Amino acid sequence: MDIDAQKRAAGEAAIEFIEDKAVIGVGTGSTVKYFIDALARVKHRIDGAVSSSEQSSRLLEAHGIKVFDPNAVGEIPVYIDGADECDPQRCLIKGGGAALTREKILAAIAKKFVCIVDAHKCVDVLGKFPLPVEVIPMARSYVAREIQRRGGTPVWRADCVTDNGNWILDVHGLHIEDPLKLESDWNQITGVVTVGLFAHRPADVVLVGDGRRF
Ligand code: 5RP
Repeated sequence: MDIDAQKRAAGEAAIEFIEDKAVIGVGTGSTVKYFIDALARVKHRIDGAVSSSEQSSRLLEAHGIKVFDPNAVGEIPVYIDGADECDPQRCLIKGGGAALTREKILAAIAKKFVCIVDAHKCVDVLGKFPLPVEVIPMARSYVAREIQRRGGTPVWRADCVTDNGNWILDVHGLHIEDPLKLESDWNQITGVVTVGLFAHRPADVVLVGDGRRF
């Protein structure tokens, strides 16, 4: 199965996790786009969605799905999103689409986080995919130096301003053997808004486009 077919299969498989009359958490990216298309076919079953990006909000609204402010809904039963890398403990690297901060918020308010990926995203150790870090613009160079001191090679993502008005550093050269520790440590760097490592709040279920789930 090619990668695109796997993304579609994973996105469509996630429909089994939606709950009737609920507000569903919806992430960002090409895999999620397939989920949104599938969600549109059963939109009569749900009250609406909260979304991790302006891009996904527009897609949802184009399908006639109401988009709520997370502040107005409290806890959500399920959040469906993709990932850039996933390890066997369901820890993730996310933020390839620059939506990592809102993604972390939706993962935090969700009872269940269902991650949808194609098989090439599954790795034994996270870090081959450059780790996105959202930073306050005036702290970019300080944060970059602190990351270098910790052994990473940060690259300022060109022409990218997040939905929150911030910038992204993509950190190369990592081999993340202790994701919990790295997430905690880097979160302490002043000027970091969000580290795109989802270890303290990993996925609860991963649906792989080749039919595996764990
Ligand atoms: C966006 C993300 C996406 O989930 C991640 O980049 C995967 O995207 P795709 O499904 O297009 O491969 O974290 O910030």
